[in-house]
Amino acid sequence: MIKCKTFETFDPKRVPSPCFVVDEVAVENNLRILQRVQQASGAKVLLALKAFSMFSLAPLFDRYLSGTCTSGLYEARLGRGEFSGAVHTFCAAYKEDELAEIMQISDHVVFNSLGQWQRFQPLIEQARAERPELKFGLRINPMHSEGTTPIYDPCAPGSRLGIPKSEFANQDLTGISGLHFHTLCEQDFAPLDRTLAVVEQQFGDLLHKMEWVNFGGGHHITRADYPVDALIKRIVEFQEKYAVQVYLEPGEAAVLHSGVLVTEVLDTTYNEMAAGDSG
Ligand SMILES: Cc1ncc(COP(=O)(O)O)c(C=O)c1O
Repeated sequence: MIKCKTFETFDPKRVPSPCFVVDEVAVENNLRILQRVQQASGAKVLLALKAFSMFSLAPLFDRYLSGTCTSGLYEARLGRGEFSGAVHTFCAAYKEDELAEIMQISDHVVFNSLGQWQRFQPLIEQARAERPELKFGLRINPMHSEGTTPIYDPCAPGSRLGIPKSEFANQDLTGISGLHFHTLCEQDFAPLDRTLAVVEQQFGDLLHKMEWVNFGGGHHITRADYPVDALIKRIVEFQEKYAVQVYLEPGEAAVLHSGVLVTEVLDTTYNEMAAGDSG
């Protein structure tokens, strides 16, 4: 059941099918909460385009958030072309020709492995010479699971998402100004707090050398019972302790309970069981 008043009285027959219907007021109410987090904590909040890319609403997002987080070339083009804020790109692995364009249109580019960061150094040097303001980061993997489904858990054993602490030994991190982690999914503040404790314990020495830290997405900040003040306090402490700029890149939280997908049943069939009857 969608927790949005608009849809209690919404008549799906008013729109074509299939059709995504989004309640702008509900989105704006979410954005106000995210804006409060930004203003009270000093963190910057980015919209994860992989979760919501309805760019007709870009002017609304521009009024409240600091930019977009993108997961590859096409989202980066969307973020740069349609939204007015910063574009932060993380991709599990970059193709060389796409990386060149990504570095022209992104503000932060985050690598998933030291291998790609090192292999693309000539290209990176060239991009940096053209755009000295371009920042680079690495995705870390604290190997601290908060998820319940292993296949969706970036911290599951053998995960290829993010660099575990052991891989950092004796690495030259010249040119890296930030760290990124994304380990949560639809979660409350307590899992983030526990994750941060592990990140600090494992990567504390690196954090002191960084300019920014991106806490990824998966924070259910706009859910009615989310302790927003506890989040704000934790971000303030973290930023002060390490002298870093914190970023959050929620997707779902920005648009929670704000839309429906209207569809219709065109036919029903029978083959030993009725369609839709799984057993
Ligand atoms: C790197 C990264 N950032 C942000 C997000 C957005 O997550 P959510 O929509 O759960 O907030 C995702 C989702 O998979 C992600 O992989």
